[in-house]
Amino acid sequence: MDESSKTIIRKQTKVIVLLFFIILLLIVSLVIINFRTRESSSICGVKSEPEWVCGTDNLQRQTLLNNIPKAIAQTQIHGNYERGEKLFKQNCAVCHTTTDQLITGPGLKNIFNRVPTHQVTWLKNYILNYEKVKRSKDAYALSLSKKYDQLAMTIFEDLLSNEEVEDIIFYLAVF
Ligand code: HEC
Repeated sequence: MDESSKTIIRKQTKVIVLLFFIILLLIVSLVIINFRTRESSSICGVKSEPEWVCGTDNLQRQTLLNNIPKAIAQTQIHGNYERGEKLFKQNCAVCHTTTDQLITGPGLKNIFNRVPTHQVTWLKNYILNYEKVKRSKDAYALSLSKKYDQLAMTIFEDLLSNEEVEDIIFYLAVF
């Protein structure tokens, strides 16, 4: 073999090796991209996890998911968190936060720790018609009325069904 054909072969080998690396790089990138999409779809697409976790960051999502059994134990309701969240946003969030922050109404964080025993029944009655609970001389309802003197809550009796109120209570229990 003469010198010039040797050089040609050397050049061709270089090109082949370079192409090989480029292809390898492409394959690795595709594998990484594929994994990433699968990871994100496992957050938003898997049936066993409710859709509301979608979009929340991992830590927050995990904390809320961990609270579901606690919420079931506390309320004895196997409520629908997603529906509760939606209903809360539509009907309650104008006046209430799920933190300690007071807007028109008090923040509802840890609400279960302050309402009277038979919490779920109390909350259900209160949300449906808080005036009625006040009229029954319920001490806690009267103390709220005194504390939030000029402020009024909506009466939901004709606006929400029993089941919808349960979902809202379940939603509140998760926080
Ligand atoms: C128009 C404003 C307003 C809306 C809407 C509203 N609330 Fe209220 N809520 C209040 C006010 C004000 C109080 C304080 C009670 C009082 O003044 O007698 C209150 C009190 C409460 C309490 C007792 C709070 C505590 O600290 O013990 C609960 C529970 C509650 N609301 C739940 C709800 C839920 C659930 C919804 C939606 C279905 C809702 N509220 C919608 C204004 C509102």
